[in-house]
This record gives sequence, structure tokens and C-alpha cells, in this order.
Amino acid sequence: MEYRIRRTRDYHTLIVLNKKIFGEGFEVDFAKHICWVVKDENNTPVGFCSYKKTTDDIVFLSRAGVLPEARGAGLQVRMIRTRLKHARTEGYNCAITYTVRDNPASFTSLQRCGFKLYIPEYEWVGPEQLYWIHYLY
Ligand SMILES: CC(C)(COP(=O)(O)OP(=O)(O)OC[C@H]1O[C@@H](n2cnc3c(N)ncnc32)[C@H](O)[C@@H]1OP(=O)(O)O)[C@@H](O)C(=O)NCCC(=O)NCCS
Repeated sequence: MEYRIRRTRDYHTLIVLNKKIFGEGFEVDFAKHICWVVKDENNTPVGFCSYKKTTDDIVFLSRAGVLPEARGAGLQVRMIRTRLKHARTEGYNCAITYTVRDNPASFTSLQRCGFKLYIPEYEWVGPEQLYWIHYLY
């Protein structure tokens, strides 16, 4: 199956995917984020990702998810690279994100794309998360 990743402002699709993948209680105001959707050959949305500006030179990879039937095809890695490429063209110097501690697929994907674990000055999502950073230049 071939997949395409495209920028989107189709917030309805993003909300539906987010709910299917993360469940209730993990809503995002996608209008405040830059978002991408992944579609399969049948034009069916199977994944999404987003990033958000934090300061002038730091971008926060805010959310990514892939429906179970499309997992294992390298889409998370592609979505990370898509966002890093966009962040570079926008002039950001650094990308940050966080994961829960039991998400080995995300650890693998982030490390493959150059992210390293770091200890932030302020644990903005709480002490139980892992924090990741990648300098873009
Ligand atoms: C996490 C998630 C986005 C991964 O999506 P995906 O498209 O299947 O990921 P990829 O196909 O790019 O694979 C990621 C890598 O993790 C690896 N991986 C998968 N499960 C793994 C595990 N249990 N242990 C170690 N590595 C694992 C894959 O093998 C792949 O590495 P590889 O390319 O060297 O084989 C998807 O499972 C998902 O949406 N989960 C629910 C929501 C979520 O956790 N989002 C991320 C929040 S940070």
C-alpha cells in the first residue's frame, strides 16, 4: 500500500483520527497547530501529525498517530521527517517532543530521526514523560 502525507486544515478528519487513535480525553485544538494527514491509495485517512510553535526557534512535535491497520509501514518516521523538513524551511533551530515511557515504536522512530533524550528545565507534561530534542542545524 502506498501512502501520501499532505498538509491539511481539515480539522474534522483530524479530530476523528485523533479520537480513534488516542480515545477520549486527549483532544487537541488543531487550529493552533500545523497539521498533516496521511492517506492511503483509496484516499482514506489513516494517520496524522502536527507541530506547534513554542518560541521563535523551537518547534514542538505535538501529536502523531497511525490507525492500527496502517502501522509498521514506516509512517511515523515519515511523519517526523516531514515535520522536521518543514520546520527547517520555516527557520526553526530545534525540535522537541515527549513520549510516554512505554512507547518503544516512538523511541525507535525518534532516535532514527536524530532525536535524543534530554532533561528539560521544566517538565511541561509532568515527570513521568520522556523528553526528546533534536537540533536542526
Ligand atoms: C506509535 C505509532 C505512531 C507508530 O506508527 P507506525 O507508523 O507504525 O511506526 P513506524 O512504522 O514508523 O515504526 C516505528 C519503528 O518502531 C519500531 N517498533 C514498533 N514496535 C516496536 C517495539 N515494540 N519495540 C521496538 N521497536 C518497535 C518499528 O519496527 C519501526 O522501526 P523500524 O523502522 O526500525 O522497523 C503508532 O503505533 C500509533 O499511532 N500508536 C498510538 C498513538 C501513539 O502512541 N502516538 C505516538 C505518541 S508519541
